[in-house]
Amino acid sequence: MRFSDNFIQEVVDRTDIEELIGRYVPLKRTGANLLGRCPFHSEKTPSFTVTPAKKMFYCFGCQAGGSAITFVQRAENMDFAEAIEFLANRAGLPLPKESGVPQESGVSRKRVLEMNLEAAKFFRACLFDPAIGGVGMDYFRRQRRLSEATVKHFGLGYAPNDFGALRDHMRKKGYSDDELVAAYLCARSQKGKGVYDIFRNRVMFPIIDTSGNVVAFGGRVMDDSKPKYLNTSDTPAFKKSRHLFALNFAKNCCAEKMILCEGYMDVIALHAAGFEYAVATLGTAITAEHARIFSKYTQKVIISYDADEAGQNAANKAMRMLGEVGMDVRVLKLEGAKDPDEFIQKFGADRFRRTLEQSRTGFEYKAGRILSRYDLSDGAQKIRASGELCAVIAEYHSPVEREVYLSYAASKLELPNDVLRNTVEQIRRKRRSEQAARERQEAQATVKNFGDRINPDAAKDPKAAAAEEAVIGLLLMFEEYRNAVEKGEIPLSEADFVTEFHRRVFVSIMRRHASESGLHFELMGEEFDPDEMGRIQKMEVTRRQLSQNGPEIFRSAVAVLRGIRQDRQVSDMDLNTRLAYLREKKMKKNETT
Ligand code: UTP
Ligand code: MN
Repeated sequence: MRFSDNFIQEVVDRTDIEELIGRYVPLKRTGANLLGRCPFHSEKTPSFTVTPAKKMFYCFGCQAGGSAITFVQRAENMDFAEAIEFLANRAGLPLPKESGVPQESGVSRKRVLEMNLEAAKFFRACLFDPAIGGVGMDYFRRQRRLSEATVKHFGLGYAPNDFGALRDHMRKKGYSDDELVAAYLCARSQKGKGVYDIFRNRVMFPIIDTSGNVVAFGGRVMDDSKPKYLNTSDTPAFKKSRHLFALNFAKNCCAEKMILCEGYMDVIALHAAGFEYAVATLGTAITAEHARIFSKYTQKVIISYDADEAGQNAANKAMRMLGEVGMDVRVLKLEGAKDPDEFIQKFGADRFRRTLEQSRTGFEYKAGRILSRYDLSDGAQKIRASGELCAVIAEYHSPVEREVYLSYAASKLELPNDVLRNTVEQIRRKRRSEQAARERQEAQATVKNFGDRINPDAAKDPKAAAAEEAVIGLLLMFEEYRNAVEKGEIPLSEADFVTEFHRRVFVSIMRRHASESGLHFELMGEEFDPDEMGRIQKMEVTRRQLSQNGPEIFRSAVAVLRGIRQDRQVSDMDLNTRLAYLREKKMKKNETT
C-alpha cells in the first residue's frame, strides 16, 4: 500500500516530534534544539539533536537523521509505510482504506498477527480437549500446579503431537503454506515441497504485545528432551529483542516497580501469586531495547534471576543495562530455591513479598559479592577488595551516590574516605578519556561505513562529492535556489553530478519541487532508506551550521561542479582538442586575474 502525499504530510503534521522521540530518549532543551543521547549508537556524551521547528532529528555522532517517519523506521524497525501507519495510529488518524503493508516475505505484519491469533485459539482448543490435550492440561495443572484460571488468563495451549494438525487447520482458514512459513508456524520440509508444523507435542505460551496482538509463541516439552523451549524466530510481526513476556498484563500495574525474571514459568507463578508486575525476556539476555522499554513503564526494576552462577552473571549484565537508562535497579537473591517459580511453590507468596522488600540495591548486591570473596584481615586481599569496590563506585554518575557508597566501603574496609575517594576519581578520569576516544573512533568508523555503503562513488572523486553535498544542502535549505535551477537561471542538471547517490537526491528534490505540493523532506523517505535519509539530512545540517550560504556561495558550488564536468569531458577528448581547450582555459584564467 502506498499512502498519498497528503496523508503522509497530515501524519507528520499531527505528530509532535518532541513528544514522540522523548518517549525513547530523555531530551534536554538547548535553544531551538533538544539534545540527548543517541538511541541508535552507544554514546555517553549527547550528540543527538531534535529540532521541533523543522520536525527533524539528527545525530552528529552516527549521522542518523530525518523526519518523525525515519525515526520510527529506525526505532521500531519498520519500513516507510509501516512507520506511517504507526504514527497515524498514534495521532488517531484513520488509515485510508486498503492498507495491508506487504513485507519482504510478501506477508504483512497484519496477516502474521491474524495467523498467530488463529493458531493461539487452535492451541487453546487443543489444550481444553481432553482427547488431544489431556497430557498438556495434566502437565500444567499437576506438575506446574497452575489453576484453571491462570491457564485461561495466559491463554496457554497445547500443540498436538502431529506434523500437520495446525497446518491443516490453518489451510482450511485460507492461509497459504508460504504464509505459514513466514509466520514461523510451519517449516518447509527439506526434500519435498510440503510444510510441517514447527510446534509439536509442546505446551504453548502465547506472547502478547501491549496492544493485545499475539506476536509469537514459546513451546515447552513436557519431559527432559531438548530443546526445552522452542520460540518463534523473528517474523514480520516479531523481534525478540524488543518484547517482554507478560508486559501486556504488567503494564497496568507497574508504575512503581517491575520484576524481571528469566523464564515464562517464573512470570506465570508470580502473576498467579499476585505479583502482576513481573515480566521476562524471551529466551535472550536483556538488550538495550529492553532496557528502554522498562524505562518507559516504570521507575524501579527488581531483578530476580535464577540462583545459579549463570543467572547471577546475567543479573550483573541486566543491572548494567538498566542502570544505563537511569533505572533504580534492585537484585533479589533467593535462598533455598533455584528460581522464583520454585520459591513460590516451596515458601509461598508472603515469604516472596518479604524477600522483595529486602531486595538490595545494585551497589549492596555487588559490594556483597566482592566482600564475600576476600579475607579483609589479610593486607593483600584487602587491597584487591578495595580496588574492586572503587571500580564499582566509580560507575555511579551521581556524586551523592558515590559519597554514600564511599563511606560504606570505607567503614567495611576500615580505610579513610579520602583515600578511596582519590582512587575512585582516578578511575573515573581514566574511564572518561578512554570513553571519549572510543566514541570518536566508533563514530568515525560508522561514518566511514555509511559513506561507503550510501555513496560508494564518493571515494572515487571526493572533490566532486563535496561540491555536490554543498549544492544539495543549499537546495534543501532555500527555495530560491530550487527556483533558480528550475528556471535555468543557474545552469545545473543531473548530468553535472558525478556520484550516483547525489544524482538521485538531486533528481528527487527537483521533481518534488516541481510538483504541486512542493518539496517536503519527509516524503523523500519513500524513495530513500533511513541511512540515506540521514545522509541527506546531514547535507542540510552541515550547511545550516555555516554562516555563509548566500547566492554567491551557491553559484560557486555549482560552478565547481560544472568545472569538474568539463574537465571530465576534456579527459575524454583526443589529445589535440584537449590541448586547445586547456590553452583556452588558461588564457581565460589569466584574463580574470
Ligand atoms: P530455564 O531453563 O531457567 O527454564 O530457562 P524455566 O523458565 O525455569 O522453565 P521451567 O521452570 O523449567 O519450565 C529460562 C528461559 O530461557 C528460555 C525460556 O524463555 C525460558 O523460560 N529458554 C530456555 C529457551 O528459550 N530455550 C531453552 O531451551 C531453554
Ligand atoms: Mn524454572
